[in-house]
Amino acid sequence: MDRYNKSLAINGGEPVSAVPVPIHQPMLGEDDFAAVDQAVRSTFVSGDGPACREFEKLLAEYLGAKHVLFVNSATAALELAFRVKDFPAGSEVIVPDFTYTSTALGALYNNLKVVLADVYPDNGSIDVSRIESRITGRTVAIVPVDYAGIPADMDAINAIARRHGLYVVHDTAQSIGSIYKGRKTGTLADLSTFSFHGTKNLTTGEGGAVVTDDDSIAARIRVLREKGTDKHTFITENRSRGFYEYVDTGNSYVQSNILGALGVSQLRKIEMMNGLRQAVAEYYLSNLRNIPGLEFIRQPEDSRTNWHIFGILVPPEHRYWIMDALRAEGVMANVHYSPLHTNSFYRGLATDDEMPGSMNFYNRFLRLPLYPSLSAGETDIVVRSVRKVFGS
Ligand SMILES: Cc1ncc(COP(=O)(O)O)c(C=O)c1O
Repeated sequence: MDRYNKSLAINGGEPVSAVPVPIHQPMLGEDDFAAVDQAVRSTFVSGDGPACREFEKLLAEYLGAKHVLFVNSATAALELAFRVKDFPAGSEVIVPDFTYTSTALGALYNNLKVVLADVYPDNGSIDVSRIESRITGRTVAIVPVDYAGIPADMDAINAIARRHGLYVVHDTAQSIGSIYKGRKTGTLADLSTFSFHGTKNLTTGEGGAVVTDDDSIAARIRVLREKGTDKHTFITENRSRGFYEYVDTGNSYVQSNILGALGVSQLRKIEMMNGLRQAVAEYYLSNLRNIPGLEFIRQPEDSRTNWHIFGILVPPEHRYWIMDALRAEGVMANVHYSPLHTNSFYRGLATDDEMPGSMNFYNRFLRLPLYPSLSAGETDIVVRSVRKVFGS
């Protein structure tokens, strides 16, 4: 790598592409537009409508799970995941240090204490060997995250949870369609939480889902997401009494029927969309290998990612320069999360030295553009830009 190479666009040379290749883009087509149009025209636009119920049913079938509850974000799903359990205030929840703030917020909204655990330096997934030392007499739960769509090592995590009687909430925000030892993510824990935010592989604009096989958890979350009312059964059972009852506290986390319709049309093509992502990822893997200073993030052999993110690991001292140099060439490379403990709100929960894996991963990590509609021309721009910047 020659940072002073005059042919690089960052140094005044000709860029590989004058039109930038964005980092992500949702795949929205005529099928999605028609589904939304139909839902609006039906005039059933409020929450928990027929399209929401169809989306929940189809998603449960797709995952092989018993209950899917469509809510307005993964953050809301994580809050409900803890709200439903009524753990005593101050109980401890183990959260990986390298994740989005929402993974911790679910516990924090419920007056629980977040305890950080380190992650593997080569893929950002919770380091299974670092969990047990974080468990105390007050620990009640673990929240593994499928960073980049790569499933956490759920068998090992569930075994630890069983040994210590802990609840496992699987933050599957990024991993719809990923497979761990032959099973889809969403079926691997007591409860899982998906995100359908605009950047995710399946999007409803904003949105999320609680997924569980536990009937009583599902029944209570149905009430909690609907302002603490039993409106869900009221609609389902078509009762004639003319009102529904306030049976608990809760919040308004149901999703509009318009978004349910979008969820159905997106779900119908999730395998196709993930397949297109995989083709792009395979093109990068075969055309960017053997570049000195560039490594791919580790994919465990017993799982299959949904390629939510394509991550590379680069020398930390050059990371921001590489990002800027790629952007100058027309590739919108980006960094991603900063470790929780480095953010002002979480400072004090750990030091850099206590989270070496997380710091190592964070300091080396860069994302390359990856989305289903990337054209062959665009993937070629990415490959040529990376090779040019790395001088290889
Ligand atoms: C790991 C993880 N958890 C939770 C969330 C929150 O998702 P949402 O925006 O649907 O609340 C995200 C969003 O990017 C995420 O990456």
